[in-house]
Amino acid sequence: MLQDIPTPTLREARACVLETERLTLRKPTLADVKAIARLANDRRIAENTRRLPHPYSQDDAIDFVRALAEGGRETVFLIENNHTPIGMVGVDWREATTAELGYWLGVDHWGQGFGTEAARAVIDYFFEEFDLDQLISGARVANPSSRNILEKCGFQWSGVELHRFEALGSSSPVDCFRLSRGVWASLKTWSHSTRRQG
Ligand SMILES: CC(C)(COP(=O)(O)OP(=O)(O)OC[C@H]1O[C@@H](n2cnc3c(N)ncnc32)[C@H](O)[C@@H]1OP(=O)(O)O)[C@@H](O)C(=O)NCCC(=O)NCCS
Repeated sequence: MLQDIPTPTLREARACVLETERLTLRKPTLADVKAIARLANDRRIAENTRRLPHPYSQDDAIDFVRALAEGGRETVFLIENNHTPIGMVGVDWREATTAELGYWLGVDHWGQGFGTEAARAVIDYFFEEFDLDQLISGARVANPSSRNILEKCGFQWSGVELHRFEALGSSSPVDCFRLSRGVWASLKTWSHSTRRQG
């Protein structure tokens, strides 16, 4: 069965466009590098994402998009609202059987529920496309909005680990979370019950 072998080639072949109520998630191209660099070049983003350097230049964005095109270890979507790029979300395949959800938004776009909406789209894509039983993610302990997104999506806390953050130049404690296929499937099928006088 195709879904049993999530090889990099297969992941790339399955890259597609995801649509939500307000967002379009699509593969970034070299035409997007200016927008990506403008959005990502903010310390408030870099300090909460593990590998984003700061400052973040257009050359960094070019290297990133080229690495994706060469079939790197990430499945990444550019997030657009009203045809305007606002951030990125994706899955990093640490190993064939371990996938990690990550995301960031340009600061002007925080606080409008876009992070949750984009995360939900990629979580659905992940469990519908790949035959893996769990997705992991993490948020620095001082990052309540990211923790909130993960909990709203059904992720459960699994412990604290020290992770290195490129922009900090040091390690920082990270709350680790996991979302199992069973919990995701349960949330997706939780329908309304009705009430009547007994
Ligand atoms: C994390 C990030 C994507 C959040 O995006 P966002 O679109 O603002 O998030 P949302 O609006 O969908 O949801 C954030 C939730 O956290 C809550 N929140 C925000 N700031 C908070 C705070 N200081 N304390 C507690 N909760 C907070 C919001 O109220 C919201 O919950 P609600 O919908 O129940 O009200 C964005 O802040 C970001 O890009 N940060 C930098 C990069 C990063 O942290 N990435 C995640 C690590 S992988």
